[in-house]
Amino acid sequence: MIYADITGWGRCLPPAVLSNADIETLMDTSNEWIVSRTGIQERRISHVTNAELARVASTRALAAAGISAEQVDMIAFATSTPDECIPNTASILQNALGASNAAAVDINAACTGFVYSFNMMSDMIRAGSIKTALVVGSERLSSLMNWSLRESAILFGDGAGAIVLQASDNEAGFVAGKLGCVPDTRELLAVPDFGLDAIAQFRPLDVSIVFSGQEIFKKAVKGMGDACEAVVAEAGLGLDDLDLIIPHQANARIVEAVVRRIGGDMDKVVLTLDKYANTSTSSIPIALIEALEQGRVKPGMNILFTAFGAGLTWGASLLKWGERVTPLGETDISLPPTDKTGLDLINAAIARRQAYEQTN
Ligand code: COA
Repeated sequence: MIYADITGWGRCLPPAVLSNADIETLMDTSNEWIVSRTGIQERRISHVTNAELARVASTRALAAAGISAEQVDMIAFATSTPDECIPNTASILQNALGASNAAAVDINAACTGFVYSFNMMSDMIRAGSIKTALVVGSERLSSLMNWSLRESAILFGDGAGAIVLQASDNEAGFVAGKLGCVPDTRELLAVPDFGLDAIAQFRPLDVSIVFSGQEIFKKAVKGMGDACEAVVAEAGLGLDDLDLIIPHQANARIVEAVVRRIGGDMDKVVLTLDKYANTSTSSIPIALIEALEQGRVKPGMNILFTAFGAGLTWGASLLKWGERVTPLGETDISLPPTDKTGLDLINAAIARRQAYEQTN
């Protein structure tokens, strides 16, 4: 039996912080509303591309696994905000890392992309078709925001997380997974002009996230709840056997509702959305790495990932952590410095959008 052990991990959070107080200067909202409805206090805003965030997180993950980029057979780049579509953003990362032996694929399942990628890459390793995978969740969601829409602009942040999966004889890694997509819900959460149809029609650029928050909320709780119950049952475990629950970080109230629905324990949940908000595909690896750094991950633990996103996609993964909870190696790689605050970066983006709208 071949297992797909997690042997390396790394994350990259851009330094510029955008607090709720900063957002109060941009739109009609309040820190009190945002904290009480979402749990979010601040988020990070990137001054570099999505692929650059991914490069730093991935380099840290490879160092933690103690392997070179040439040893990677496959890069799965989960993202909702690709820098480029053709060629894909995974190939930018492949080039930047020097991962010359790796296949490179972008995986778009919106915020569920990391769970999809983790399950798919683990299955490829378990089937024997590859030995080493780099699974990345990386986002520059700030570039997608319309800062005049308060219902969406408060929710998201930028960041990247990466893990290395390696074939192993040790009983560790992926145990069970469940993926799905709720039919007839595409319009509940969408970026309508983010594709070739809008370009083919020469529609003026108007990229904004639109969504029906409450409808998504209900479907997210059901989708993630069902997925969690399915993977726990498939693994022959009970809820008490779970040691850590690492959910997609969209809204603290959604997480609490899922945990309540499955009868889980909030003390076992890793929450980072107060600091980083919803970073889409990167929210689970960022939270996993935070848990590792805090010493919350112990050898042999049963860990549950669960996520939902536009589609509406949903999924869960159950895994058993291996023996090692510390990195094998480290790297001094970091992002290029910036003296810009989050608010500086967003005000510049707003000015660029206004200039575009005046000329189109
Ligand atoms: N600041 C202040 N008020 C706001 C606001 C903001 N940023 N955004 C919305 N409101 C107002 C609404 O206009 C509404 O006012 P009204 O009662 O006068 O009509 C009121 O707050 C309640 O809005 P509602 O949408 O019912 O709030 P909610 O409790 O459902 O919370 C979300 C809204 C978006 C936080 C919540 O529904 C959610 O998290 N949904 C899922 C989010 C999602 O899809 N994330 C991405 C998927 S991965």
